[in-house]
Amino acid sequence: MIKTRQLKSEIGLPGQDQAPASKKWFQQAKTVLAGGISSSARATTTGNLPYPLYLIRGSGSRVWDADGHEFIDYLLSYGAVILGHANTEINAAVTDQLQRGTMFGTCNTVEVALAGQIRSMVPGADLVRFASSGSEAICGAVRAARGFTGKNKILKFEGHYHGWVDVLAISNRPTLDDAGALEAPASHPHSRGIPQGVVDDVIIAPWNEQEILKAILQRHEDKLAAVILEPMVANNACIMPQPGFLEWIRQECSRRNIVLIFDEIVTGFRVAPGGAAQYLKIVPDLAVFSKAIGGGFPISAFTGRRDIMELVAANISKHGGTYNGNPVCAAAALATLKIINQPGVLDAIEAHGRSLIDAINRAAHDRQIPCVVQGVGSMFQVIFGTNGHPLRHYRDLLKVDTGKFAAFRQSLLEHGVHINSSGSACWFVSAAHGPEDGRLAEMAIQAAMQSIS
Ligand SMILES: Cc1ncc(COP(=O)(O)O)c(C=O)c1O
Repeated sequence: MIKTRQLKSEIGLPGQDQAPASKKWFQQAKTVLAGGISSSARATTTGNLPYPLYLIRGSGSRVWDADGHEFIDYLLSYGAVILGHANTEINAAVTDQLQRGTMFGTCNTVEVALAGQIRSMVPGADLVRFASSGSEAICGAVRAARGFTGKNKILKFEGHYHGWVDVLAISNRPTLDDAGALEAPASHPHSRGIPQGVVDDVIIAPWNEQEILKAILQRHEDKLAAVILEPMVANNACIMPQPGFLEWIRQECSRRNIVLIFDEIVTGFRVAPGGAAQYLKIVPDLAVFSKAIGGGFPISAFTGRRDIMELVAANISKHGGTYNGNPVCAAAALATLKIINQPGVLDAIEAHGRSLIDAINRAAHDRQIPCVVQGVGSMFQVIFGTNGHPLRHYRDLLKVDTGKFAAFRQSLLEHGVHINSSGSACWFVSAAHGPEDGRLAEMAIQAAMQSIS
């Protein structure tokens, strides 16, 4: 087996269960944190190890764990760290703001500049509101849509993820038994503790199934305030929309007085300066952003059509939050977006990702391992067990070979490449990834494919 540590670079995990400091930290964490973690999603980043890796330092494209192991980071905090770790320009902007005070609980000048920057980059972003997390900004957009239409129900797609809060945590990952018939999917709460009234207000449809969606829209049209979707389904292994599907949804929503919300929390400021709306050339009524917008700082935004956002402006659809638009995170976001908006920055990210996709396809082809890579260069996922066919919707994801993915991911980790342990998530590329990362990643990919062949 090729070992990157036997080749040029001393990176990666020396083998299964070889991170004793992380193991110790997790034992201690379990005594003070519920489950030893701060987010349910982090239980999955453990992967094959019986404990998570504790990352204690990041610089550019690289991260180091508590045992000093170095990795090329393609997790990037779920895509948030789009310019790489400890970016000097973001750090300078934040340091400057830190010295002048962190929060005032009043209006501030940085949030105004940031909103202007977003308007200049995002198609259809007439007015902006800030929050701190993606889930919060989703709540703001949903409330605005309900306020504007005077209707209550929201249509979401099975498997799409729009945050942990009650409002849309429905049918995120149902089992086939819980999911119901494909033609009329059940609304299944993602967690205990979500009231039935909330569940009843969420209508579920399968992704990429136009005829089924048409029937569901017809059934609920008079009660539907909004259709919300991940335009590229980052939380379903980057399933892409079928050609024409989103264009058709756009028309249907306009025709039926339903607000179309793009959840661009992952795609925003990543797949194009103006997000998926720009990439796919479809403008939603409202859009929600987080992750890449802050370059690693906690900030989110919802934005969109003036007539809808005017309700928020007039305090008719209320939206609040102590930390909203705070100058530290706003400064980080402003520095991030100015860099993302420079010519060539996102192109370089895309090109690096495309070279990784090519490497995966080559390594699989050489060993005749059937797999498919879905997505775009800046965010993508490799799927095993579908005989090379791309996935159409969430239910296809239930049939993939998760064991093979787990072994592939473990081998990548041992060869110095850090990706999400969940095959339903994505690889993310940053502006800090360069040719040396690409070269080492390709060796790791070859070795990982060899290990599962
Ligand atoms: C598409 C999408 N929407 C919403 C969210 C929720 O964002 P947050 O975790 O910041 O609340 C996420 C988080 O991963 C996401 O991927």
